[in-house]
Amino acid sequence: MKILITGGAGFIGSHVVRLFVNKYPSYTIYNLDKLTYAGNLANLKDIENKPNYKFVKGDIVDADFINKLFSELKFGAVIHLAAESHVDRSITNPLEFVYTNVIGTVNLLNAAKTIYKENTNAFKLFYHVSTDEVYGSLGETGMFTETTSYDPHSPYSASKASSDHFVRAYHDTYGLPSLISNCSNNYGPNHFPEKLIPLCISNIKNNKPLPIYGKGENVRDWLFVEDHARAIDVIFHNAKAGSTYNIGGHNEWTNIDVIRLLCKIMDKKLGRAEGTNEKLITFVKDRAGHDLRYAIDSTKLQNELGWKPSLQFEEGLERTVDWYLANEEWLQNVTSGDYQKYYEQQYVKR
Ligand code: NAD
Ligand code: DAU
Repeated sequence: MKILITGGAGFIGSHVVRLFVNKYPSYTIYNLDKLTYAGNLANLKDIENKPNYKFVKGDIVDADFINKLFSELKFGAVIHLAAESHVDRSITNPLEFVYTNVIGTVNLLNAAKTIYKENTNAFKLFYHVSTDEVYGSLGETGMFTETTSYDPHSPYSASKASSDHFVRAYHDTYGLPSLISNCSNNYGPNHFPEKLIPLCISNIKNNKPLPIYGKGENVRDWLFVEDHARAIDVIFHNAKAGSTYNIGGHNEWTNIDVIRLLCKIMDKKLGRAEGTNEKLITFVKDRAGHDLRYAIDSTKLQNELGWKPSLQFEEGLERTVDWYLANEEWLQNVTSGDYQKYYEQQYVKR
């Protein structure tokens, strides 16, 4: 079967592509990616010459290009990860998120629908990878389940909620076999250093301030990226079309506690005296509309499909730090050029 994975050069996408290419030699994996600032073929160096892997550079917003690609290659399934993914960038430039996350998703759905209508047996599944942010923000207690009402707050989460609704609409209206998973915050190797954890790893390394929004009291539920990729594999192969699964780590941390733990790990790794890195913590102006707390109830996935997270947070964070310290060139390449402008706009005058 030919499987199209979109956004496969990004953070999570590269881990999903690697898992599928290595584990399923009988599939041909097409990685379609625009290579925006967040897409990086260096993430896939180890598999780029595998016979069942092909890279296609392209934009999901370009409907003609997408229709031509589907009509030529007749994919049997799609795993859709391509997106604009950073909340802060969505606050600065919401329209970019509408184009890629909403229109791009609808373009893919239309192209998949055409193949499905030609031969209903030939198209297995449109798997949409989404986020827990569609559910909005929790108070001190409670967790998001698959039946929690949608209540997105940021332009990013509004665009992802919209794309989720389109996926369900194509399932209900046209019968397109599709499903959605909504996952909590991922961390791990290849994470672009605009996001909290890799940004702070990079800044600790360079002795720069660690910008914590507000009082650092916001809570996120962290999951190691390879555990997310394993969940996608399990859901892709076992879940019924029309279903939804929440994916999460049962691993809630306030931002300030995450960064304190990171500082401690990196004091040791960098041979600095205990407490050195914590001095870099700087509280800065809060994110507009900042969701207080996310926590995912993944009981359905655990009970029905037998998936569970494999790593404790401390171990996963240490593995992540080790990866960044061993891949200095990767970090150097992604933090030069445009990143510097982005950093200045976001943080210097904050
Ligand atoms: P990322 O920003 O690291 O990667 C996104 C990828 O999509 C990049 O390779 C980029 O080049 C590509 N892309 C962007 N616009 C495109 C376009 N118009 N056409 C083709 N390719 C395009 O994102 P990520 O963190 O890996 O997230 C992947 C998916 O998982 C997203 O849909 C995101 O909403 C979802 N998700 C992310 C998290 C998380 O914690 N990072 C959690 C839950 C869900
Ligand atoms: O919950 C899943 C979502 O997790 C995904 O859908 C998004 O694609 C992904 O980017 C992530 O969103 P967050 O906004 O939670 O991640 P981020 O790393 O940007 O921020 C994590 C927390 O840290 C959040 O409460 C904001 C805070 N933060 C972030 C940055 C970048 C800071 O305090 N300082 C920072 O510099």
